[in-house]
Amino acid sequence: MKIVVKKDYESMSKAASEIFIEAIKVKPDITLGLATGSTPKGMYKELIKVHKEEGLDFSKVKTFNLDEYVGLSHDHLSSYGYYMDNEFFNHINVDRRNIFIPDGKAKDVEKHCREYDEMIINAGGIDLLLLGIGVDGHIAFNEPADALSVKARIVRLAQSTIEVNSRFFNSIEEVPKTAITMGMGSILKSKKIVLLANGVNKSHVIKKLLKQDKVTPKLPVSFLLLHPDVTVIVDELAYNG
Ligand code: F6R
Repeated sequence: MKIVVKKDYESMSKAASEIFIEAIKVKPDITLGLATGSTPKGMYKELIKVHKEEGLDFSKVKTFNLDEYVGLSHDHLSSYGYYMDNEFFNHINVDRRNIFIPDGKAKDVEKHCREYDEMIINAGGIDLLLLGIGVDGHIAFNEPADALSVKARIVRLAQSTIEVNSRFFNSIEEVPKTAITMGMGSILKSKKIVLLANGVNKSHVIKKLLKQDKVTPKLPVSFLLLHPDVTVIVDELAYNG
């Protein structure tokens, strides 16, 4: 696992964007795994800038998002589908047919999750995956548990996740209690992984990760220690606390 410490959020975002820009240039039909939340917003801004100013081409890029809240439709202001449009997809030339986000309104969630996994396999797997990290060590919505599932599935969100994510809703009551998440299998089969963390509230979990020499489902991010190509980019606040 490679650790890169950057001065601030802007330089963390820029360093991450450079990895994505290079990868897209090398493989224009790359398959990306994408995260939502506060952390990647700056990186998406950088990618949009390079698209607008230098013509970075997303027309052949395929994307799979990590997760979506159960019960929220794509046009719900707090859904991850809406977030992706707003923060990224509406500003680049990605082909809508190449965008895959779990459907929070799927009638048969289990079938939908199975199909999501199959679509990732049919796309040849994820070439480059972007992850954030929860204060509890979750990646995507693989929350700390006795065992972690390999497959995409519906999960109950940890209370700390509900509390932290309530900032994206009008009230904590509005935060869905369940979500669809990409499983640990698709994550760990990704060819390259970039994990971003910024801010003092992430320093505790980043310290834990950097000290960690065991994998444990109690700290889902610890499984990244088994992966051969993970780059963790953090700002000084997340690194030093
Ligand atoms: C989001 C996701 C989550 C977030 C994590 C950190 O798609 O899968 O694991 O990456 O909860 O969220 P932020 O960036 O808001 O601190």
